[in-house]
Amino acid sequence: MVQIGVLGLGNVGSAVVELLEKDRDGIRRQLGTDISVKKVLVRDLGRARIEAAAGKITDRADDILEDDEISLVVELMGGEQPALSYVRKALSRGKSVVTANKEIIAKYGEELAYLASEAGVSLMFEGSVGGGIPLIRPMQTCLVANDISMVMGILNGTTNYILSRMDESGCEFEDALREAQELGYAEADPSADLSGADARRKIAILSSLAFNAHVVPEHVEACGVEKIAMADIRYANELGYKVKLVGYGVRRKGQVELCVAPVLLPHGHPLAAVRDSYNAVLVEGDAVGTLMFYGRGAGGMPTASAVVSDVVEAIRAKDAVRPPFSCYNRLGVVDPRLVVSPFYVRLQALDSPGVLAFISGVFGHHGVSLSMVLQKSRRNGVAEVVMVTHPVQKGALQDALAEMEGCSQVPEVSNYMRVWE
Ligand SMILES: NC(=O)c1ccc[n+]([C@@H]2O[C@H](COP(=O)([O-])OP(=O)(O)OC[C@H]3O[C@@H](n4cnc5c(N)ncnc54)[C@H](OP(=O)(O)O)[C@@H]3O)[C@@H](O)[C@H]2O)c1
Repeated sequence: MVQIGVLGLGNVGSAVVELLEKDRDGIRRQLGTDISVKKVLVRDLGRARIEAAAGKITDRADDILEDDEISLVVELMGGEQPALSYVRKALSRGKSVVTANKEIIAKYGEELAYLASEAGVSLMFEGSVGGGIPLIRPMQTCLVANDISMVMGILNGTTNYILSRMDESGCEFEDALREAQELGYAEADPSADLSGADARRKIAILSSLAFNAHVVPEHVEACGVEKIAMADIRYANELGYKVKLVGYGVRRKGQVELCVAPVLLPHGHPLAAVRDSYNAVLVEGDAVGTLMFYGRGAGGMPTASAVVSDVVEAIRAKDAVRPPFSCYNRLGVVDPRLVVSPFYVRLQALDSPGVLAFISGVFGHHGVSLSMVLQKSRRNGVAEVVMVTHPVQKGALQDALAEMEGCSQVPEVSNYMRVWE
C-alpha cells in the first residue's frame, strides 16, 4: 500500500481524489499495490467537500509533509507560495512530488529537479502544460533520440476560445471574454491568460525539455491578446490567415527564439484549425519529423487524468527514478528585435493626398518594404489601412511605427502581428 498526501482540494485536487477512488481496482491491477489518499490539505475547513475526501481533511501542511508513512505528495494548490516551500520540504524529506503547478515548475524547475535527484525521488508535472494532453512524458522519453528544432503551441484555452468566438460569431473581444467567463473558461481575473503570462510559463517548461536547457519565463518575450479587434480577425481571414495566440521556441544556430504572441497563421497550418478551448502543441524533431499533440488543455478531470498518470508512474519508477530535466545546454536567447518575419500592420491614417506616400517614406527610411497595402473603411476623414510587409527585422518595423504614430498623418497604429511563414 502506497500512502499519498494531496495539497489542495479545488477543481483539480477534487477530481484527482475522485479518480483515484473510482479507478482503485484498475490501478491496483496495473501497479500490484493499492494507492490510498491519507490526508488532504485545504485552507478553509468550513467548506463542503467531496465524499471521497471525508475524514482526511486537514489545514496543517505538516500533517502531510512530516508524516513518514506518506511517500508521495501531490501539490494542487497553485500559486508560488506556500506551494513552493511545501514542495521543497516534501522533496527534502524524501517524498516524490507530483504537481500541476506551472508557476513553480517554470521558475524553479531546475532547483526542484536537483532536490529530487539528491533525495532519489521523482518530480513529475505532466498536468502543468496542456492539462490532460500527454506531452511532458513523451518529450522526456519518446523523443530522446531527436534533436528538436521547434516547439510551438496553442497553450491557453481561454484565449483560444475568445479568438475562436470572435472568428466564428463576429463578436468583439469584450463580448467573447464575457462569454468565456460565463462558461467558466476564464477566471474572474483573466489577466494571466490575456497578457500571455500563462502561456509564457508553459512555453518556458516545454522549451527547457525540448532544448535540454534551462529556460525561465523571463527569457520569453510575451505579448497578449488585449489589442486584437474584430477588424484584425476579419482582415486576417481575407488575407488567408487565422489569428492565434501561440507560444514558440525555435532553435536558430545555437540560440533560441522564445516568444508568446498573437500571430497570423496560414489557413492550412495545423494550429490554425485548433478551435474553442482546445490546446495543441507541434514538435519538430530531426528523426521523427513533425508531431502534433491535441486535446483539452484544462479542466478538473482532464488535468486529473495527467496527475493520476504521474502518481502511478512515480510509484512504478520508485527504484529507477528519472531526472525530469537535463539542462546540459547553455543556449543564448535571440534578441526579439532581430527576429526577421513578414508582419501585418493595421493603422488609422488621414484620408488626404500624400499620406500613403508619407507612410511609405517612413517605412522606406527604416528598410521596411511592403508586399500588400489595402485601404479598408473610411470614417470622418480617417482611413483604416492594412499592410503586410516583406520579411523585415521586428526592431526596424517597431522603429518605423513609433516614428509614424507621433505624426499628424497617422493618428493611431492600431495593431501589428507577425505573419507566420
Ligand atoms: N483548473 C485547471 O483547469 C488546471 C489545469 C492545469 C493545471 N492546473 C493547475 O493545478 C493547480 C490547482 O488548480 P485548481 O484549479 O484546482 O485550483 P483551485 O480550484 O483554486 O484549488 C486550490 C486548492 O488549494 C487549496 N489552497 C490554496 N492555497 C492554500 C493554502 N495556502 N493552504 C492550504 N490550502 C490552500 C484551496 O483550499 P480551499 O478549498 O480551502 O480554498 C483549494 O482547495 C494549479 O497549480 C493550477 O495552475 C489547473
